[in-house]
Amino acid sequence: MKTIVIAGGTDGIGKALAATRLGRGDTVVVIGRDEAKGAAFLASAAAVGAGARAVFVPADLSLLSENERVLETVRTRFPAVDTLVFCARHYRTRRTETAEGLEENFALFYLSRYVLGHGLADALTAAGRPVVVNVAGPGADLGVVRWDDLELRRGYHGGAALGQGGKLNDLLGVAFAGRYGDRGIRYVLIHPGVTATSFSGEYDEHTLKQITTMQLYAKPVELALPPILAAIDTPPAEALSAFVEGHRIEVEDDSFDRGAARRLEKVTEGILLEHGSRTGAPRGN
Ligand SMILES: NC(=O)c1ccc[n+]([C@@H]2O[C@H](COP(=O)([O-])OP(=O)(O)OC[C@H]3O[C@@H](n4cnc5c(N)ncnc54)[C@H](OP(=O)(O)O)[C@@H]3O)[C@@H](O)[C@H]2O)c1
Repeated sequence: MKTIVIAGGTDGIGKALAATRLGRGDTVVVIGRDEAKGAAFLASAAAVGAGARAVFVPADLSLLSENERVLETVRTRFPAVDTLVFCARHYRTRRTETAEGLEENFALFYLSRYVLGHGLADALTAAGRPVVVNVAGPGADLGVVRWDDLELRRGYHGGAALGQGGKLNDLLGVAFAGRYGDRGIRYVLIHPGVTATSFSGEYDEHTLKQITTMQLYAKPVELALPPILAAIDTPPAEALSAFVEGHRIEVEDDSFDRGAARRLEKVTEGILLEHGSRTGAPRGN
């Protein structure tokens, strides 16, 4: 039985995954900011006799300080973590900065995944067949990255923020696999395809209409799970892999450029340092 940590497991794909893995006998740690949804998760686990294997860690993952607190909680309770799944995201029509002064999408969709991954690398290494599953949108062109304006201060658009975030997660995967692949940790990037979820976000009227239309043809959440379950149960042999709706895509082309991944890691470490974050990539290499 595995210990599975799901960041953004209170709704959508993360929530469905949490229920499925609890049903299979795993211990499931859900991280989310909504206490009521967390309580509902614990209650539904208790109702099926899995209460002792369900943990809810409340946290606003757009805040670096909260990610640090989550890390302390998880590392204390679970010295070995088999699977770390990233599902948290939140669309914003209007550019918003967190209380720590970071653009929210950048902080939640990318930085949180960066900090939690590095912060749990030792716990993952301690597990038998560890895997990080980053559910985002792999495969976009590197051109979506605004290197001179990663927090989109100029010409912000919610869609562009999510699009860039997906690419930053690809580059995170490249760098992470480079650092920890030989420790046995597998990093799997997954694009679930358009799926009928909560589409967590704050939308203007026009975008809300688009989302509502999208919900009509989106696939049910259960159909997004098989590639994620496969990555957890039988991680690919390679340190880094990527799948779009279950189809494996190339991770050696220019869009997964190692130089760009190193560049992003360096920039990210600078931002974390500036914000007093304790966690980051190992120093000195
Ligand atoms: N659904 C799709 O069509 C689609 C397509 C491509 C990629 N993806 C990717 O798949 C992943 C899962 O998407 P989904 O559609 O299942 O998501 P979703 O239904 O929108 O749920 C997002 C999850 O993130 C949580 N969250 C949002 N802001 C948070 C914060 N500040 N701190 C902590 N948790 C926070 C939400 O919590 P609350 O319940 O509090 O909102 C919820 O549990 C995402 O990474 C997304 O980019 C989805």
